[in-house]
Amino acid sequence: MKYLGNVVNAYKIILRDYIKSGMTIVDATCGNGNDALFLKQSITETGRLYAIDIQREAIESTRRVLESNGYTESDTLILKQCSHENFYFLESGEQVDLVIYNLGYLPKGDKKITTHFESTLKSLVSALQCIKCGGLILILCYRGHEQGELEFRHIEPFLAELPQGEFDVLKMAFINQLNKPPVMWIVEKKSQK
Ligand SMILES: C[S@@+](CC[C@H](N)C(=O)[O-])C[C@H]1O[C@@H](n2cnc3c(N)ncnc32)[C@H](O)[C@@H]1O
Repeated sequence: MKYLGNVVNAYKIILRDYIKSGMTIVDATCGNGNDALFLKQSITETGRLYAIDIQREAIESTRRVLESNGYTESDTLILKQCSHENFYFLESGEQVDLVIYNLGYLPKGDKKITTHFESTLKSLVSALQCIKCGGLILILCYRGHEQGELEFRHIEPFLAELPQGEFDVLKMAFINQLNKPPVMWIVEKKSQK
């Protein structure tokens, strides 16, 4: 396996360093559950994972992947079929360490059911409101399909406008790949001085 190779490998390198046992994470697009499994293994039993997807098929896939690895639904593993626009699934006043978006459509699923920039932007506003100081929001955006390119064009200026005093925003991409390589942004909420 390559060290970098693709944005998923790259985000895992960063998150392996960042994630600690016991953290609270929202996987806002859990899809087939691959990211969710990595996240749950990283936070261990004591950490709480919310795995969210708009499609029942995705929630069922995620449940299967997690269960076959010994993780069943509980107070620390919450699977929810809903849109990620509002974070109503969190407990009142709950703050989280990480929100992750792996945007686009379900691999091997219906390509018409994809994330859209309007709802993704609403969701980012929700995520910004519940992220802890020192917490991260990580967004993977695939520009090779129409909605993905639209998301890129709307998300980038939105993130670029976040106040520097409150947030750091990093952008990563493979700049020598053909066509439109995926982009990863990481938002870090700064600690209060
Ligand atoms: C690229 S897939 C995610 C891949 C996944 N993280 C994995 O490890 O397999 C994107 C997912 O976003 C979901 N999605 C689309 N719109 C959504 C929304 N408004 N709220 C939550 N999930 C959404 C799709 O159903 C799809 O499963």
